Amino acid sequence: MRPVEPERFRAVMGQFATGVAVVTVAGPDGPRGMTANAVASLSLDPLLVLVCFDRQARTLPEIERTGRFGVNVLAAGQEPVARQFASKDDGKFDQVGHFLHDGIPVIEGTLAWVGCDLDSLVPGGDHLIGIGAVRAAELGPGGGDPLVWFRGRYGARR
Ligand SMILES: Cc1cc2nc3c(=O)[nH]c(=O)nc-3n(C[C@H](O)[C@H](O)[C@H](O)COP(=O)(O)O)c2cc1C
Repeated sequence: MRPVEPERFRAVMGQFATGVAVVTVAGPDGPRGMTANAVASLSLDPLLVLVCFDRQARTLPEIERTGRFGVNVLAAGQEPVARQFASKDDGKFDQVGHFLHDGIPVIEGTLAWVGCDLDSLVPGGDHLIGIGAVRAAELGPGGGDPLVWFRGRYGARR
């Protein structure tokens, strides 16, 4: 087996198209969030989701502090929202419509969202796998197409 460089790993795994989510939390200074695609449905009984957090993500300590988070599934037209929440800007929520549900920020105009209690954090290399116990799960009113991440870009073009 030849050694796999990180760039090759990134290119290979980039063939696996995903949706795009924003993971949210209500911090002491207001809502915070980060774009994430390492998100999956984990278990039906009990209901669990997982999110892989870079250990450097500033959103993670807020989630550890509050013990809850939301996963907002972005619609195709929400690329600007994804870019905003992938940044390190302060006030990421300033221009983004949202409301609080049981202390979890929910972004408007998404396809769907889930609200979770943080169940556990499992080490995974330079990431931590956050497992959330699902307490709420809602579909957005409009349906529509998903925002897709493929080959390191937004959109599922070939
Ligand atoms: C499409 C896309 C997917 C991403 N997925 C993840 C992810 O699953 N986990 C993660 O920790 N960071 C992910 N990131 C990077 C974070 O969004 C980025 O580091 C962000 O600045 C973190 O914000 P924070 O430090 O304010 O929490 C992703 C970025 C993009 C553009």
